[in-house]
Amino acid sequence: MSIPAECPFHARSLPGDGTPLTPSPQLAAWREEGAFVPLDFQDGHEGLVATRYDAAVAVLQDPRFSMRPSRMPLGPGDAEAGGSAHGERAEAEAVPLELPGALDEAGQASDALNLLNLDGDEHAKLRRSVMPRFSVRQARAREEWIRTMADEQIEHLRSLGPTVDLWRDYAMHISARTHCHVLGVPEHHYPTFVALFVEPSTAQQKYDFIRALLAERADNPGEDVITDLLAHPDLDRIEVEGVLRLLMGAGRDSVAYLIATASVALLTHPEQLAALRRDPEQIRPAVEEFMRVGAMFVTLFARTAAEDVEIEGVTIPAGTSVAVSPVSANRDPHHWGAENPEEFDVARDAFGHLGFGYGIHGCIGQQVARVEIRTAITALLAAFPNLTLVDAEQLRPQPFAHPVAVYEAGAVIASLDGRAS
Ligand code: HEM
Repeated sequence: MSIPAECPFHARSLPGDGTPLTPSPQLAAWREEGAFVPLDFQDGHEGLVATRYDAAVAVLQDPRFSMRPSRMPLGPGDAEAGGSAHGERAEAEAVPLELPGALDEAGQASDALNLLNLDGDEHAKLRRSVMPRFSVRQARAREEWIRTMADEQIEHLRSLGPTVDLWRDYAMHISARTHCHVLGVPEHHYPTFVALFVEPSTAQQKYDFIRALLAERADNPGEDVITDLLAHPDLDRIEVEGVLRLLMGAGRDSVAYLIATASVALLTHPEQLAALRRDPEQIRPAVEEFMRVGAMFVTLFARTAAEDVEIEGVTIPAGTSVAVSPVSANRDPHHWGAENPEEFDVARDAFGHLGFGYGIHGCIGQQVARVEIRTAITALLAAFPNLTLVDAEQLRPQPFAHPVAVYEAGAVIASLDGRAS
């Protein structure tokens, strides 16, 4: 017998039975129940999850919510694994996003400079230091470079075919190579970048690389983030290293995930694929729809109310942890209207989705990510008219990756000529 959701002794953990393109029905049930519903956190205290669009946006743009302390929602299986699941409020400890290895003091200080851990002026100063390089104009200026690089990756696929993994053999390269290009990691360091930031490595190894890179680039400026950081008048060396450390890791996997998941969405919806093939100009709104239905964040980094806050008629007491769910908000019928928001429709006006978050901590890299996804999918469809899906991990329920509840990409096996399926 399933335990009723309102039972006070039942852990409300995030449901684990969804897939990246078909969320758990539990999220729709919670959304129906309220704009905010109770959710247990890993340290044993009870907080809330914002399920509806308006509530999600209200939290994300409200400076009365702090990113500290870092708290993680209870995920599927966490309760059985020993997490306290009975709703008692516990003192939450700040959880480091990555366990540092034998870092020196400066390295540890840099690690604490994660934008997603900071509030107010401290956050605004660091965010402003890199924002100009991530503008719409800058992203457009990268478009041709990204197109040429995507064509090279298409040739790489041809050399591997007829059966390939679109995630590992295509999407990962496009995101990692663009990342290096935008940040200013020279091409000859690409293999080291992959070994340290795509494959597992220690924090010490990452910082050693960042410091060597900064030394190398100091006399060799370019049109990139490293150049901006080195020339910034208000940043000290620890801040430069900390921001770079964050940016080296941030968003690269997400872009690869979105390219892979968009491919799965199209290859499992032949009528949508045909519509995009008929009208390739449709790719811009289609990218927003990929982001809406394929949002990888089941919940964003949890916020904590710094004072009592009232939203949508709900009073959220000071100290309450609030997790915002883009996966749920992106399908909220109150916001998306009569057209079934559960459906994938490349012609839909999906602008305003929360796939990149929103507000104070909204994604810095979203403009360049849009160009990458658009270019990768356009090049793929143009090169392989008979592309067919063989299998994809995204079609099965997946465990979430912590520290936040994000879906991780997995193999997307496709036949380039449609014959191996
Ligand atoms: C499809 C690709 C991407 C997705 C889905 C994505 C998603 C997100 C989301 C949802 C947030 C907000 C998290 C929160 O509020 O809790 C965020 C923040 C952030 N993203 Fe992205 N991202 C992507 C690509 C990128 C890229 C390419 C970069 C950098 C090169 C990047 C850098 C960042 C940074 C630095 C933040 C923190 C911003 C702040 O706290 O002010 N992201 N991203």
